[in-house]
Amino acid sequence: MKLWGGRFESGPAELFERFSGSLRFDKRLFAADVEGSRAFANELLRVGILSADEHGRIHAGFDAILEQSKDPGFFDADDEDIHTFVIRKLGETAGAAADKIHTGRSRNEQVAVDFRIWMKREIRADQQRLEALMAALLALARRVPDALLPGYTHLRRAQGVLFAHYLLAYFEMFARDWRRLSQAGERADVLPLGSGALAGSGFPFDRQRMAGELGFSAVSANSLDAVSDRDFALDFLYAASVTMLHVSRLAEDWILYSSEEFGFLEPGDAVSSGSSLMPQKRNPDALELLRGKAGRVCGHLHALMLTLKGLPLAYNRDLQEDKEGVFDAADQFAASLEALKLCVDTIGVHPRPMEQAAEEGWVCAAALAEALARKGVPFHRAHQIVGGIVLASIKQGKRAEDWSIDELRAFAPEFDAEAQAALRPRAALENHAVPGGTAPRFVAQALDAAESRLDDMKKQTAD
Ligand code: ARG
Repeated sequence: MKLWGGRFESGPAELFERFSGSLRFDKRLFAADVEGSRAFANELLRVGILSADEHGRIHAGFDAILEQSKDPGFFDADDEDIHTFVIRKLGETAGAAADKIHTGRSRNEQVAVDFRIWMKREIRADQQRLEALMAALLALARRVPDALLPGYTHLRRAQGVLFAHYLLAYFEMFARDWRRLSQAGERADVLPLGSGALAGSGFPFDRQRMAGELGFSAVSANSLDAVSDRDFALDFLYAASVTMLHVSRLAEDWILYSSEEFGFLEPGDAVSSGSSLMPQKRNPDALELLRGKAGRVCGHLHALMLTLKGLPLAYNRDLQEDKEGVFDAADQFAASLEALKLCVDTIGVHPRPMEQAAEEGWVCAAALAEALARKGVPFHRAHQIVGGIVLASIKQGKRAEDWSIDELRAFAPEFDAEAQAALRPRAALENHAVPGGTAPRFVAQALDAAESRLDDMKKQTAD
């Protein structure tokens, strides 16, 4: 069946039908298409196009095809797209009444409605997946509250931080990602139905009523825009891409931290693979795939941007290219959030080598210089002095904590017991006692706050 054949003398080539057909992927919009069509049928009744009897048949027809859709072979068909497919199925179940279902409606608006209905749900489910991931990070922070990590800049040991503080950094990224997804959801929450093909529908539909029935917060303000806008899809892809960038940074950190060279972490068996040749290997494949998939999701964002670039108003068939990329991005994104949560749940943490790396790494040098500055030594001079102590340590093979007060006083008379304490990374944590800093009591506060923020997020996405 075609929804258009009248003005043609012969049909499309089989090659073109295969080239242009979208049912194999837009079948994913089936439930949304039926929902949108039901609300539309209710409106057709209200404006007098459908009789009560026809309206009843149409709804019964939709009930029947929803039932049929449980059959695995249901979508094996060669209809052009999901909209044509649903209308044909409706004809088979509702009879002649189905011929009126498309009155005053265009597939251009229909595909936009379906895509938005689908996307709003997908986004909410992703937010819930992100909440589960954030909860796992917080649980891990609670599992090893005292573990001390040498924080890095330039991938060189820089200053000690609590591992919990490090985990909370990712919590912050994911909390912003959650908000970005929520904003993308708001952008999708606008009903195009009633826009017709491009100029607005030819019938006096109550668009607000349909919006209410379909759970949309608003109706679109311009019909040309409504049928050709896909920036709501870009918003979703952007939110997913940024989240995946954060996922991949975490994955990279953990690949590195779990290498033999670092030995801080150990991915669980549940997310590790072996080698077919080297029996000793235990590879962090899940984390590597997460890092890899970030590129794939970002690629879909770029692809849709390029599809939209330079498209004349209003609908063009190019727009059909929106779906496969978005669906694949959504699948990879959802799977990645779940896989990363599993990595977090099963990660082994080795606090001793972490702290040892911090102790060997002079991560307390800045704290020592600041301790001197507190005694009145100008910071530039304090920096020089501590730099000299580090150099002497390297030459003499000494660790930071090996220096006695008397030895330190030879570098600067201002050194006292308090300054000497800063030589131990754990004590130096106290040097960062500001909100957002890694002093243990501030981390404890941040952890409590993160838990209550997460509860709030969960409330907003509860079904
Ligand atoms: N499969 C089409 C799409 O995804 C549906 C709209 C078709 N409209 C049209 N005028 N050919 O965009």
